[in-house]
Amino acid sequence: MEQRNYLQIPGPTNVPDRILKALSKPLVNHRGEQFKEIMVKSIEGLKEIFRTDNDILIFPSSGSGVLESSIVNLFSPGDTLLISSNGVFSERVALISETYGINVIRITKEWGQAIKPEDVRKELEKDTEKKIKAVCLPQNETTSAITNDIEGISRVIKERDHPALFLVDVISSLASLPLETDNWGIDVAIGASQKGLMLPPGMGIVTVSKKAWEAVENSKLPKWYWDYKAVKSKMESYQFPYTPPTSLFFGLVEAIDMIREEGLENIWDRHNQLARAVRAATVAMGLKIFSEKGYESDTVTAIVMPEGIDFPAFSKVIRTNYGVVLGGGLQKLSGKIFRIGHMGSISKTDIYAIMGAVEMSLYELGYAVELGTAAKAVSGVFLK
Ligand SMILES: Cc1ncc(COP(=O)(O)O)c(C=O)c1O
Repeated sequence: MEQRNYLQIPGPTNVPDRILKALSKPLVNHRGEQFKEIMVKSIEGLKEIFRTDNDILIFPSSGSGVLESSIVNLFSPGDTLLISSNGVFSERVALISETYGINVIRITKEWGQAIKPEDVRKELEKDTEKKIKAVCLPQNETTSAITNDIEGISRVIKERDHPALFLVDVISSLASLPLETDNWGIDVAIGASQKGLMLPPGMGIVTVSKKAWEAVENSKLPKWYWDYKAVKSKMESYQFPYTPPTSLFFGLVEAIDMIREEGLENIWDRHNQLARAVRAATVAMGLKIFSEKGYESDTVTAIVMPEGIDFPAFSKVIRTNYGVVLGGGLQKLSGKIFRIGHMGSISKTDIYAIMGAVEMSLYELGYAVELGTAAKAVSGVFLK
């Protein structure tokens, strides 16, 4: 029997049928009138989703590509950046920066621990010469399933009256967790298509503030494909310096419609409620949540592998018997945790299915759990 697949890795996420249909539309001329209309709708919609009046730039790219774009467009060799290091994706920005001869001050934390406003405050206080050109971190560190307090960190930068730019990777939080790009003073927010936006991978999106544009003017790093000025100038006439991913734009317009129909704040609430249900079921089954308490992500949950069960065996059982695909631990967390993605197109019923499948698969592998525990805990959250 063909069964529905639950792609519960922390991105790419399940693409809803409405978007799949939009993606399959016949292609259009990317320099023609039809595409212009699509671009106008896309930019308008993205501004609502990022909560910004800043410029929006779009790239045919993975998330890492647009992360690199922010570094090469804003900085110069020898600049100093303050960057979080508590997971694969925060560390990736540090590595990209070092590749380009930038000095990196790392805020290093155990993986699973969040970066707090006081961590940033301490570093900014030490920076009496105001050498730090930017504070860079992800809103949601997908590796360890923690959410950093971006609003709190933005307040610290403001209070200290520090001239640093604020660069935030929102790749695994966009259209899922509360984000206020302008109110939180985010100069460059960096997103991608394949998570909360419910699209396939292949589109990177950045927002660029006025202050960030000033930095662009002073940047001496080489760029061509990523050149923000070139892309902005082409996008002003609704074109690109190269061929854009037209099909993804069809999907994006549909995603924007779906997001407007549900309402962005309702989407944030839904993610919070579903994540609480996932965590309640996890704890009820006697499993341990890996991430620091109070900073658990509402888009992905990291769970410590129970004693005696290994991830490859578990992921095989849950995939073959229940059609649920889960994420493993990355790099030093490999074999230690498993991750359940719960962002984008996901409902209450999906949570029963996923957590029920987690329970049954662990049970089949010898884990001691009373069957029905997960569903009961999920219902407990939904009843409140
Ligand atoms: C927070 C975060 N940043 C960056 C990336 C890298 O994105 P990509 O794999 O599309 O290059 C990811 C991917 O999961 C992510 O979750």
